[in-house]
Amino acid sequence: MTSVVIVGGQWGDEGKAKITDLLSLKADYIVRYQGGANAGHTVSIAEGLYKFHLIPSGILSKGKTCIIGPGTVIEPQFLITEIENLQKQGICLNALRISGLAHVTMPWNIDVDKATDTVGSTGKGIGPTYTDKAKRIGFQLQDLMSKECLESKLKKVLTKHNQDLSRIPGINKEYKLEEVLETHLALGNQLRPYLSDTINELYEARKKGINILYEGAQGTLLDITFGTYPFVTSSTPVAGGACIGSGVGPTSIDYSLGVFKAFNTRVGEGPFPTEISSDQEVATMLRQDGKQWAEFGTTTGRMRRVGWFDTVLAKYAVRVNSFSGIALTKIDTLDSFDEISVCVAYHNRETGETFDNIPQANAYFLSQCDPIYQTIPGWKSNTHGLKSWDELPVQAKAYINMLSTILEVPVAIVSTGPGREDSIICKEIF
Ligand code: GDP
Ligand code: IMO
Ligand code: MG
Repeated sequence: MTSVVIVGGQWGDEGKAKITDLLSLKADYIVRYQGGANAGHTVSIAEGLYKFHLIPSGILSKGKTCIIGPGTVIEPQFLITEIENLQKQGICLNALRISGLAHVTMPWNIDVDKATDTVGSTGKGIGPTYTDKAKRIGFQLQDLMSKECLESKLKKVLTKHNQDLSRIPGINKEYKLEEVLETHLALGNQLRPYLSDTINELYEARKKGINILYEGAQGTLLDITFGTYPFVTSSTPVAGGACIGSGVGPTSIDYSLGVFKAFNTRVGEGPFPTEISSDQEVATMLRQDGKQWAEFGTTTGRMRRVGWFDTVLAKYAVRVNSFSGIALTKIDTLDSFDEISVCVAYHNRETGETFDNIPQANAYFLSQCDPIYQTIPGWKSNTHGLKSWDELPVQAKAYINMLSTILEVPVAIVSTGPGREDSIICKEIF
């Protein structure tokens, strides 16, 4: 029996979905514990290419139970469309369970996100939904199951929401109680078959010794507490978030797997010490323009910013997640480089200090830091699709070992391509 949490070690898009899909072959439950439709998770298997937003990336493995947990936020119509699209692709969703405790992204949350965003959000209403949750004026999915409940909650808060909207320039909308009530009861009805007591189900699963995978969305540096605040999302992607977002205690998690890309990327605003200007050749090479896995957002299509691997930030991610092992993805994208740089320390322009460990990742602090690089020779040969450690070129092994040594965490998986089989298993996790 093992419960594993999969966490992005950087700014999201590390290839978590690929790793989740791979490990879900040996897990029976896959649980999304935070975030919402801001996530864009790509899984590539022989049958096709699939993109998930709210549905756990383990849904393609047959016979697994997939849970959208209490800590997530759900835009009901978006989820229904995601379910319908997957059904059209022949995916069975009978094993999908949704917690009634998950919060609902209401239409005004999306209006507010689009009109007031200051961090380059995905526009999916994530920040305003979690804001309403914290302000105790939000809606839980279970509220959509009862006319009396939904009506009385709307009566309490809708006027206030409409007043707030009227004060935001560019929004000229007023939501009518009867209309919101009708549409959201209908949406609730469509999701009713999936609603489930996920807390008890996980409790019983753990008791029976069943393997459970907790699938984090976003990444450590987008965490609302530990990320590059204020350029973060509004939830808790770090490993501890799996507990509060699923309804299990810390003794229920046995292994924390950090997923890191072999370089760094970021979408949206915020500090990025090792960023390479998007028009430089190195940036184009890292982005892999034109390839199926090119660095363009899965949810918004935005070009991702790219830069060299930052071990200072990665070490910080190791601390806040207590990573037991690492999955290093996209090693194949470095195949054609003559040299590869790794950020091993920072120089603080304000204080003149040099250090390789940081106490926090907040935006102002990072904006004062310049990266110090160590450059190693590239391997200049193909790793794409390799399946065993022994096949890797010597310099690729040296790069992977160097990161593992600096981070003081063993590498459990090396990913050499988007496909499930493009994987080198260094250590069995389940
Ligand atoms: P996630 O949000 O962390 O699940 O990552 P995304 O799905 O947003 O982005 C990762 C992209 O990289 C997707 O296009 C994946 O298919 C692709 N990918 C994952 N692992 C690898 C790998 O090892 N090599 C290559 N070339 N692509 C990969
Ligand atoms: P996955 O799960 C990369 C970024 C947005 C923005 C900030 C806040 O695919 O790794 P939000 O809409 O959450 O309020 O936006 O967070 N962001 C992501 N970046 N991958 C993601 O998810 C992201 N989800 C949000 O670009 O900078
Ligand atoms: Mg993504």
